[in-house]
Amino acid sequence: MPIPTEMTAIDPAAPGGPEVLQPVTRPVPQPGPGEVLVRVAAAGVNRPDVLQRMGLYPMPPGTPSIPGLEIAGTVVAIGDGAERWRVGDAVCALIAGGGYAEYCTAPAGQCLPVPAGMAMTDAAGLCETWFTVWSNVMDRGHARPGETMLVHGGTSGIGVTAIQLGTALGLTVIVTAGSGDKCSAALAAGAAHAIDYKAQDFVAEVARITGGKGVDLVLDMVGGDYVPRNLQCLAEDGRHVSIAFQRGPRADLDLVAVMRKRLTLTGSMLRPRSIAFKSAIAETLEGVIWPEFESGRIVPLIDRVFPLADAAEAHRRMEAGTHVGKIVLSI
Ligand SMILES: NC(=O)c1ccc[n+]([C@@H]2O[C@H](COP(=O)([O-])OP(=O)(O)OC[C@H]3O[C@@H](n4cnc5c(N)ncnc54)[C@H](OP(=O)(O)O)[C@@H]3O)[C@@H](O)[C@H]2O)c1
Repeated sequence: MPIPTEMTAIDPAAPGGPEVLQPVTRPVPQPGPGEVLVRVAAAGVNRPDVLQRMGLYPMPPGTPSIPGLEIAGTVVAIGDGAERWRVGDAVCALIAGGGYAEYCTAPAGQCLPVPAGMAMTDAAGLCETWFTVWSNVMDRGHARPGETMLVHGGTSGIGVTAIQLGTALGLTVIVTAGSGDKCSAALAAGAAHAIDYKAQDFVAEVARITGGKGVDLVLDMVGGDYVPRNLQCLAEDGRHVSIAFQRGPRADLDLVAVMRKRLTLTGSMLRPRSIAFKSAIAETLEGVIWPEFESGRIVPLIDRVFPLADAAEAHRRMEAGTHVGKIVLSI
């Protein structure tokens, strides 16, 4: 199929509500050195896309204004130095932006093969959460088999991935979620325990579940006043990994607890990291996690698929917070 010069994309002229996500015509991008051009079949929707649409996301310099951090599709052109891939390969990719479009460039090292037998709409939702969760749970959180991990937002895209990674690696995963139904969904996804944080005090529940020992690791996307409560949940030598701050970027901490329990506080932001860093994660995921998809031991949890033209509806659903798992755009 010839590559056109123009494509349909979502590229808001200004920040705003979901209604700014209207289809427009844009030039098809060209792959630079080390990049491939992908005809996009589907793109994942992530919370950072919502923040970007609102004008609240600190965009790394040079990122495309078209939103979308992950895609799946077919390679249609290869830049110099991207020879791992061939025209016609089915890939999914982590990208710094540009996924809500018919065509998108991706660094070759940030592409992975679509796992055998997996639908493009499932593969489109893999990269952003798996790269984020792997690097924060493993590289920053130093999770080890047999440990216990507390994950907030257990039914979010990130939360479901943390459940799946944790259980695959032999961790006991405790999650919080905002309703009984979401707790049931988290348990069905593999969590060992799910705490409805609107009905129960998660600090007391974690103490009860762990027999007073606490958890080894907290993966936190809530921030604010949750941080001192998370520290209460941590066992000796526990690690607290921040990936977002939905209740604010500032927290009042008890340093006595940090010292007495020898806690480590860390965190990270994936998007501004280098292509080399992201490519290294891709290589690890392809070796360790992709076989789990191909064997069917891990199955992506997709909430709903919307056509690209209904990107506004997809964002409304994410903002309503009723979704379980990933929201995906089909192109
Ligand atoms: N650092 C990074 O590199 C990085 C990369 C990707 C994503 N993120 C962040 O990770 C978070 C999840 O992303 P996503 O795309 O998976 O979004 P998402 O599906 O919309 O998830 C957001 C989750 O936050 C939960 N939540 C909100 N307030 C809560 C509270 N007080 N206690 C417990 N849970 C609470 C919601 O659960 P309930 O409805 O159950 O409350 C919801 O499941 C976002 O904040 C995103 O910005 C960070």
